Amino acid sequence: MPDHDRAVHATASMEQRVDAIQAALDERGMKATEAVEELSQLAQETWVPQNGARVVAKAWVDPAFRGRLLANGRAAVEELGLTMPKHHRHLVVLENTPRVQNVICCTLCSCTAFTIIGLPPDWYKDLEYRSRVVRESRTVLKEMGLDLPSDVEIRVWDTTADTRYMVLPEQPPETVGWAEERLAGIVTRDSLIGVARL
Ligand SMILES: [Fe+2]
Repeated sequence: MPDHDRAVHATASMEQRVDAIQAALDERGMKATEAVEELSQLAQETWVPQNGARVVAKAWVDPAFRGRLLANGRAAVEELGLTMPKHHRHLVVLENTPRVQNVICCTLCSCTAFTIIGLPPDWYKDLEYRSRVVRESRTVLKEMGLDLPSDVEIRVWDTTADTRYMVLPEQPPETVGWAEERLAGIVTRDSLIGVARL
């Protein structure tokens, strides 16, 4: 292809295109750069899995809270000062037991209860995870380092725009009696998604 044709068909990189759109919005007074900075800060400092970890620790030490959390997740996390966007209408908390492992995914895209469990990791958004975790959950979990005994039932939950999930992992027996704050420190993001046990 002659050089001039190549130039005509060349496409700017994703980064250049994003910058151009941002600049165009800024020029029109729509404050895109400000919004992007605000969102990045929220993602890094406010929407973190430590929120979900606090919820889990509270549920472990307070049976009444645990009951409220399982009945209405959204209302229960608000008791701890945590909020969810309006369109996350329901927070369904899935309780693991020795015989049941709950796992969450979003087969369509990447939905999570991100204000509670943090923004989804890259693998959660991969087509591979989204499709395979439904069809061959046990194998996928094993590949991710969670080799479950055959008598553990795996329940996979597909997130939608208005129903978000959080897994309530089992409390490791050796941590019974620990203070809430110390308990929160052992709860990982992956355990809130259900691809790891504690
Ligand atoms: Fe989604």
